[in-house]
Amino acid sequence: MGNTIEKWTAVEIPQPAEKATTGPAAVLSIFNQKGGVGKTTSTISIAAALAEYGRKVLVVDFDPQGSLTVGLTGNHEIFPTIYDVLLGQVQVTDALLKTRVPGVDLLPAGIDLSSAEIQLVNEVGREFTLNRCLAPLIPQYDYILIDCLPSLGLLAINALATSMGLLIPLQCEFYALKGIGLLEETLEKVQLRINPSISIKGILPTMVSRSLHHREVLERVIESFGDLVFHATIPDTIKMSDATMAAQPITVYASSSPAASAYRKVAAELIQRIEATA
Ligand SMILES: Nc1ncnc2c1ncn2[C@@H]1O[C@H](COP(=O)(O)OP(=O)(O)OP(=O)(O)O)[C@@H](O)[C@H]1O
Ligand SMILES: [Mg+2]
Repeated sequence: MGNTIEKWTAVEIPQPAEKATTGPAAVLSIFNQKGGVGKTTSTISIAAALAEYGRKVLVVDFDPQGSLTVGLTGNHEIFPTIYDVLLGQVQVTDALLKTRVPGVDLLPAGIDLSSAEIQLVNEVGREFTLNRCLAPLIPQYDYILIDCLPSLGLLAINALATSMGLLIPLQCEFYALKGIGLLEETLEKVQLRINPSISIKGILPTMVSRSLHHREVLERVIESFGDLVFHATIPDTIKMSDATMAAQPITVYASSSPAASAYRKVAAELIQRIEATA
């Protein structure tokens, strides 16, 4: 086997320069219709790393499981949430929470979000409900990261309708490549019908071990998707679930761990990709 992976991850990413003013926010969906691939963990970790670089970040929990909300607050039962905002019962600014991570705010979610899909079906412009809710916040943040649920339903479409980019966490397993094919088909439909300006801003290999199987899949991912793939991979580490249990981002829980460094590199590369073209 070649050394594609070593060459790819050895590429250095410069430290991001400071950003003089706040906003307008780049809205990005952390998206993969497959469950358990590291969407929520990556949302928290990238947000915390972006904040370390001085960016003002909002994370939006858009999954009725509420893992992002629990992961950042340790709390299951919060009111109001994004659900109340979507239904027009609460102003979005009244649902915002500060987190323990300086520079990272949260729009929380809870289990009631699962009924929003049905409740929104009869709305005019139902695909753009989230877009309308987030609009007042765009000037206040540099990045808005939407932690999507693992599905391609109306909530996911709302996230895609309001995003300029997708970040795709990818577990390096045999079926992952097939999953990306399906995701690209959905993305094409979204581009044609509701949001022509959306594109993939990054594919992030997560939970990468040194097993032969992971290496083979990772090489294929790099060969197939080239520059879309981040030059960092997130190692498979028990520290990540420990950080989840502690309701802390890995950059805080184990600040000098390889996983924390990897997420910092991802954030730096993301800044390079987004702000160079701003
Ligand atoms: N790099 C990693 N190494 C080891 N475990 C990890 C890593 N990243 C995430 N995990 C663990 O894997 C599990 C799934 O991660 P996570 O919740 O981020 O995935 P998800 O894609 O958001 O899942 P869902 O589709 O259910 O929303 C969690 O228990 C998390 O702690
Ligand atoms: Mg999740």
